[in-house]
This record gives sequence, C-alpha cells and structure tokens, in this order.
Amino acid sequence: MGKKRDKTSRYSALHHMENVFDYKYSASLPQKGNWFSLFGNNNPIVLELACGKGDYTLKLAKKYPEKNFIAMDIKGARIYIGAKEAQQRGLKNVFFLRAYIDHLEEYFHHGEIHEIWIPFPDPHPTEKGQKKRLTSLKFLNQYKRVLRPKGIVNLKTDSELLFDYTLEMLDQEHITPKQILFNMDLNSALDSEQEELLAIQTYYEKQHRLQKKKIHFLSFSF
Ligand SMILES: C[S@@+](CC[C@H](N)C(=O)[O-])C[C@H]1O[C@@H](n2cnc3c(N)ncnc32)[C@H](O)[C@@H]1O
Repeated sequence: MGKKRDKTSRYSALHHMENVFDYKYSASLPQKGNWFSLFGNNNPIVLELACGKGDYTLKLAKKYPEKNFIAMDIKGARIYIGAKEAQQRGLKNVFFLRAYIDHLEEYFHHGEIHEIWIPFPDPHPTEKGQKKRLTSLKFLNQYKRVLRPKGIVNLKTDSELLFDYTLEMLDQEHITPKQILFNMDLNSALDSEQEELLAIQTYYEKQHRLQKKKIHFLSFSF
C-alpha cells in the first residue's frame, strides 16, 4: 500500500475507535469539565500536546495507572498508531483527541489539567511562524488557564531556537522555570523517577538522536 493510501486508511479507521475523539467527526465530543465521567474516576489528568503517536502517554499511562492521560494532535494517521497501541496494551486511562491545540479551551475547563507534556513540538523557525510555536504567549496563556494552580508544563526539544524562544517568553511573563536542562544528557543530578521520565524517547526524539542532535528539557509552572 502506498504511503498516502496507508495514511488515509489509518485516518478512517480512527473514527471507529472508542478511545479517540475527532473534533470533526465524533458524534459527541467530551464536554469540558466532564472528562472524569469518561474515565469513570476523578484521577488527575495529564495532557500530552503535539503527541504524534502518543509515546509519552503510552509509557506514562502504564507507569501511573492512578492518573488519566489525554493525548492531542491534529494528525489522525499518527494518532491512530498510538490509539491502537493503547487498545492492545489494555490501557483504560488513555484517550486521544484529534483537534487543534489552538482550541484547547473548547475541550478543557479552567484548572481541569494537572500536568502538560510537550515533546518535540515543531520549532517553526521563521519570523512568520512564531505564532504557531506551542510556547508562544497565545498558547502559554491557554495552558495557564486549563492547568490547576502550580500545574507543571514539561517541554522536550532538539531545537535550540525553540528552547531559547521559550525561555524568552517565560521571562516576558515573569515566570522562573523550575528546571532547565540544556543538553540534558550531560545532566547527572536527576532523581531516579525523573531520569526514567526523561529517558522516554518519542518517535521524533529517536530520529534526532540518530542525527546526533542534542536534546533539551525545561519545565515551568505559572
Ligand atoms: C515534530 S512532531 C512531534 C510528534 C511527537 N511529539 C514526537 O515527538 O514524536 C509535532 C507534532 O505536533 C503536531 N502539531 C503542531 N501544531 C499543532 C497544533 N496547533 N494543533 C495540533 N497538533 C499540532 C503535529 O501534527 C505533529 O504531529
């Protein structure tokens, strides 16, 4: 099967999956503030943004069954791979949401999210692309609203440009990062839990590592 046809068939298969919502095709989208009823509990919700195949969600959901995970991206064919994997692994604490992150507040109530992971978002290197960066002020302000007080945002990237840009945006907002790990492999002062979390490699991270790129991490709360 050609690459394009393969993507198209994965995307149509997505619409029959019980652990996926698609902003365009799902008959009923979860109401904000109501995710707990879908999960059937009140456990904390962790959101993975720009999830691609949802590598962080899949690993974290297994490690933390007492938390709920929602992985969000606009690319249906990628989501399909993660959602299928979640089903095969029997992960009941995972949903995928195909939607634009730009519309985050249509899906989540203020304070509904406990933590956010953003692994390897597109750096959008041009001046014109800045507003699409997932750490531009427009996005940061949305994260601030959907997160509970002191909820943490974790960013992993190979892009020095995006990393520096994010630090600049945080500075503009008078936010002091909790942790800055430039070239995180050189950092040995991690506790074992964090070491395990940062050792999770997404599809893109694996590609970047093959190209010997440095990986950077930072976290912050509002
Ligand atoms: C470079 S890929 C990284 C995927 C995955 N996190 C990984 O590390 O393998 C960036 C992802 O962000 C998604 N994305 C970028 N901007 C988005 C937006 N505004 N809304 C939803 N998804 C977005 C793209 O569809 C793409 O899958």
